[in-house]
Amino acid sequence: MGEVLGLGVTHFPPYSWPDENMADALSMILGAPGVEERFKNPAHWPASMREEWGEDQARGRVVEHRERMRLGFDHARAKLDAFAPDFVVIIGDDQYENFREDIIPPFCVFGLEDDFDLQPWKSGVGARRKNTWGEGPDFRYPLHGFRDGARAITRGLIEAGVDMPYAFGLHHEESLGHAFANTVLFLDSQRKGFDYPVVPFAVNAYGSAVLRSQGGLGHLLDPDSATAEQLADPPAPAPWRCMEVGAKLAKTLTESPWRVALIASSSWSHAFLSPRTGYVWPDVEADRIMIDALRNEDYDVWRNLELEDLEASGQHEILNWMLVVGAMEALGQKPVVDDFIETWVFNSTKVFVSWEP
Ligand SMILES: [Fe+2]
Repeated sequence: MGEVLGLGVTHFPPYSWPDENMADALSMILGAPGVEERFKNPAHWPASMREEWGEDQARGRVVEHRERMRLGFDHARAKLDAFAPDFVVIIGDDQYENFREDIIPPFCVFGLEDDFDLQPWKSGVGARRKNTWGEGPDFRYPLHGFRDGARAITRGLIEAGVDMPYAFGLHHEESLGHAFANTVLFLDSQRKGFDYPVVPFAVNAYGSAVLRSQGGLGHLLDPDSATAEQLADPPAPAPWRCMEVGAKLAKTLTESPWRVALIASSSWSHAFLSPRTGYVWPDVEADRIMIDALRNEDYDVWRNLELEDLEASGQHEILNWMLVVGAMEALGQKPVVDDFIETWVFNSTKVFVSWEP
């Protein structure tokens, strides 16, 4: 009989960037042609945002923001090591990395080779800035896949009525996307290694924005390039469906012989995805509703969240969490909120939660 440890973390790329780049997303947003001028004007911002931005463009807040994330990751890593899983399932989004115009599956389980390398700074999101470890573009980080685990998960979900796509290799990029890579790299900030085999589980969290925004700020930087057709990419899997798949995943894992850590990887509301806030600050209020519901184990708030509302609040990536929340609800495991890091200027709310078996 298997056991499952639930964890929730962020994969916020600027965590690995120098201090002066922590607020780069906001700087890009303030310069983007697709953002209305009135939202760019600090006079229109919430008072807490003006206060956080201050006179120094939030430079004085960077250290605290990074330190809280570091504590969250160290805490999650300690729980992971104490649990000593046979393998780890990382549930993350694909931001126009492995999946592009040629195929966008709602979910995908990856059965990767026993030994492979991350190359996090070679291309994509990771290549855009220097990193705090001083690692260059040729840096390789060894990791392990686990095909039998991926096979078992896929088989279990298909038998439970979820027509689950799977892949035994990567498609467009040589290395895993940043949601998965950053999760491992941030859980190993000391660079001691990560010996647990990893089964990445991708969710099409970006849904109606996946091609339009190309996994980032594309819809704001070049708003005229989007055709009417591109403006309406087909939707992401709905919250209720993600939770249902998570519950079935939990059943499959507990019927397996393995101890498995199930890690939700993402920040919650993202400023650049939130029309409700003019794309300038994250929808902090919407995230507060979700964390309160999680603390109260009021799972219907999560299940009944409409995709339209979630996307209006820029909470696309919380769909990754929906699977773990659905799994933990099914297993009756209690959430412990290790940290809920609100910010108005560093693009997104970071949340650290654990669910012990
Ligand atoms: Fe992401």
